[in-house]
Amino acid sequence: MQDTAASTAAGIAPAVSSLVRPEPTAAYSVETVLWVRRWTDRLFSFAVTRPDSFRFRSGEFVMVGLPPAPGEKKPVLRAYSIASPHFAEELEFLSIVVEDGPLTSRLQHIQPGDPLLLSRKPTGTLVLDALKPGRRLFLIGTGTGLAPWLSVARDPEAYERFERVIITHTVRNVADLAYRDLLEAEILHDELIGEQARAQLTYYPTVTREPFRHAGRITERVQSGACFTDLGLERARFHPGEDRIMLCGSMAMIKEFAALLEAQGLVEGSNAEPGDFVLERAFVG
Ligand SMILES: Cc1cc2nc3c(=O)[nH]c(=O)nc-3n(C[C@H](O)[C@H](O)[C@H](O)COP(=O)(O)OP(=O)(O)OC[C@H]3O[C@@H](n4cnc5c(N)ncnc54)[C@H](O)[C@@H]3O)c2cc1C
Ligand SMILES: NC(=O)c1ccc[n+]([C@@H]2O[C@H](COP(=O)([O-])OP(=O)(O)OC[C@H]3O[C@@H](n4cnc5c(N)ncnc54)[C@H](OP(=O)(O)O)[C@@H]3O)[C@@H](O)[C@H]2O)c1
Repeated sequence: MQDTAASTAAGIAPAVSSLVRPEPTAAYSVETVLWVRRWTDRLFSFAVTRPDSFRFRSGEFVMVGLPPAPGEKKPVLRAYSIASPHFAEELEFLSIVVEDGPLTSRLQHIQPGDPLLLSRKPTGTLVLDALKPGRRLFLIGTGTGLAPWLSVARDPEAYERFERVIITHTVRNVADLAYRDLLEAEILHDELIGEQARAQLTYYPTVTREPFRHAGRITERVQSGACFTDLGLERARFHPGEDRIMLCGSMAMIKEFAALLEAQGLVEGSNAEPGDFVLERAFVG
C-alpha cells in the first residue's frame, strides 16, 4: 500500500485505499469497489456494491467520485453511465483515463475494497421509455459511449420491444474494443437473455486508426450505406416508421449523427415526449 504522507510530499496522489473512508451524505452513498478490469492503459471497467435503495432505468447515468485527497476540501464527482442492467446486483462502469483529469488520474488506480462515492439520483435520456415503438433499435456508441448499451442490451425489455437490437462501437484501435468478448460470444450464452441475444442482437464494431473488417467512423459507414449492407438491410437510410436510435460518445459524433437522422425525417425524443432517436447532450467533446 502507498504511504499517504510520502506520496503527497512527492506530489503523487495517494492510493485511494490509504484515505479515510468518508461518511455518506444526503447527496451520495459510499460504496465499495468489487473488481477492476483494465482493457488498455486508457480504458478500464470496475464494479461497486449497489445500495438497496438505489433504483435506475437501464441506460441512465449517475455521479461517481472519490474521497477528497489530503488538502482537498470537496470530492470530485463526474457523470458515468451505468453499464449494468437495472436489475443487476452490482453497479458496473466503463471508464476513460484522462492523464491530468481531476477524477480519472486517481480513479484509474482503484483496487477492490476501495471506497467510491455514488450520487443517489440516477438520470438520463438513453432509456427505452424515451423512444416510440419500432422494429429495430440501433445503439450507436464511440469510445466509452458503449457503456449505456451494455446496460440496455443486457435488459430483456430491449428484445421485447424491438425485433432487432444493433450495437455499433467505433474506436481508434482494435484494443479499444472493450467488451468484445462479451458482445461476440458471452452474451449469446447468458442464462437470462442468451436466447433473445442469439436471435435478435447484432454487434457491429468499427475501427478508425488501424485495419479492421469494418474500417472507419460509423457516420461514414452509415452515409456510404456500407453499414446497412453489412447488416443485411436493403435500404441505405433509416426509416422513421421502423428504426429507433440512441446516440452516445463524442459530442462531434452525436451532433453529426443527429443532423443525419433529422435529414432522414427522424425526430428527437425525451423522457417527456418519446421520439425516434435520443442522445445524451452533456457527453464529452
Ligand atoms: C452524461 C455523461 C455520462 C458520462 N459517462 C461516462 C462513462 O460512462 N465513462 C467515462 O469514462 N466517462 C463518462 N463521462 C465523462 C466523465 O464524466 C468524465 O469527464 C471523465 O470521467 C473524465 O473525468 P476527469 O475528471 O478525469 O476529466 P475531465 O476534466 O472531466 O475531462 C477532461 C477532458 O477529457 C476528455 N474526456 C473526458 N471523458 C472522456 C471520455 N469518456 N471519452 C473521451 N474523452 C473524454 C474531454 O475532452 C474532457 O474535456 C460522462 C459524461 C457525461 C456528461
Ligand atoms: N484511444 C487512444 O488510443 C488515445 C490515444 C491518445 C490520446 N487519446 C485521448 O483520449 C481521449 C479519448 O479518446 P477516445 O479514442 O476514447 O475517444 P474519441 O477521440 O472520441 O474517439 C473514439 C472514436 O470516435 C470516433 N469519432 C470521433 N469523432 C467522430 C465523429 N464526429 N463522428 C464519428 N466518429 C467520430 C473516432 O474516430 P477518429 O479516429 O477518426 O477520430 C474514434 O474511432 C481523447 O481526448 C484523445 O485525445 C486517446
